[in-house]
Amino acid sequence: MTIIDIINKKRLKQELTRQEIAFAVNGYLDSTIKDYQMSSLLMAIVLNGMTDRETIDLTDVMLNSGDIIDLSKVDGIIVDKHSTGGVGDKVTLVLAPLLASLGIKIAKMSGRGLGHTGGTIDKLESIKGFNTKISEEKFIKQVNDINIALVGQTGNLVPADKKIYALRDVTGTVESIPLIASSIMSKKLASGADVIMIDVKVGSGALMKNLEDARKLAQTMVKIGKSYRKPTICLITNMEEPLGFAIGNSLEVKEAIDTLKGNGPSDLLEVVITLSSIIIGALKKIQNSEAQELLFKQLNNGEAYNKFIELVNAQGGDINKLKTTNKSYSIKSKKTGYINHIDALHLGEIAKNLGAGRNTLDDKIDYEVGLVLNKKVGDFVEKDEELLKVYVKEKSANVNEILECFRIDETLEKKPNLILDIIK
Ligand code: URA
Repeated sequence: MTIIDIINKKRLKQELTRQEIAFAVNGYLDSTIKDYQMSSLLMAIVLNGMTDRETIDLTDVMLNSGDIIDLSKVDGIIVDKHSTGGVGDKVTLVLAPLLASLGIKIAKMSGRGLGHTGGTIDKLESIKGFNTKISEEKFIKQVNDINIALVGQTGNLVPADKKIYALRDVTGTVESIPLIASSIMSKKLASGADVIMIDVKVGSGALMKNLEDARKLAQTMVKIGKSYRKPTICLITNMEEPLGFAIGNSLEVKEAIDTLKGNGPSDLLEVVITLSSIIIGALKKIQNSEAQELLFKQLNNGEAYNKFIELVNAQGGDINKLKTTNKSYSIKSKKTGYINHIDALHLGEIAKNLGAGRNTLDDKIDYEVGLVLNKKVGDFVEKDEELLKVYVKEKSANVNEILECFRIDETLEKKPNLILDIIK
């Protein structure tokens, strides 16, 4: 078997065997297969696709390329949640303590944010003292003690994906459903949870640009989950505008806290409640309406917020020491009308350039900077009324560039639905 035979086979749209997939992935990991050969194979996969069987084999080969977390010492059902990446996406910060406050175990290992979407770990590190690097032993103990731990990735999880993803990033081979599905699912399966929830974002600010592709990705991930007997639930949500009002690490933590206290923005709440009620409904064997009632009760009676504080304290953070700045300025509308579109991707880029995100994994983050919207899609705005506030430290943002992110018209267009589908 040679890598050239494998590349040619995929170029001719033929199905690769598990042995061939393992040969390519393991060979690339140990550097016997070169970057240019792997890039060629990846491009053939992008163009010609993979069958479900090939995608499941690719997932399995990548999953077994490194450590697999053993969470068997955690008592109870462990839930993991993942988002394919959105702007202002602080769902995990609300959903995780909310579910934990109802006895569900949340043992989550997250990556750091890269590009225009932020990472949960970065957001948590905007709380002074919050330690995201705890040992596996302490991680398991904390989940058993208080139902929740949110940490950065430890160990050598899915090194094949790490190396292949870095190559995809620079060879135009990110956008492929089998490659994305196997990349996400290999990491989720290696993290050891019993139930996997994935928020598949669709829209201009997301990896999936249209609903059809988002559905295909979700269906593929659900099939992979099933082949491991791990229930996998995908919610397809709109990412045409940022989620909630805040974009930027500590600003998003503040908004998550408001939400945990029952005062969250309606779109964020809708995603959190829809995802959580599916889990609670299934695990507690209750109707969806009853599950929703229970979840709202936890938000309104302080239990969800108390669980968040318990999490922060357990990991050494001080919630009174959120890294914030008062240095801000307003961006005002140049016209009167209805806001029909807010460009999430572009605002995410602007927040990243202010220092809220990173271009490479070595970049330092300014936790306190970012944007807070004053208006959402569907709102009416008067000329000179505030559209958003920019929170800054060292860099500032270009006013015109921000204004271009808002489409303001004389008439109001129908607002697209936020939750587009649920696939399980
Ligand atoms: N996120 C991942 O983890 N992998 C992909 O391929 C795309 C997004």
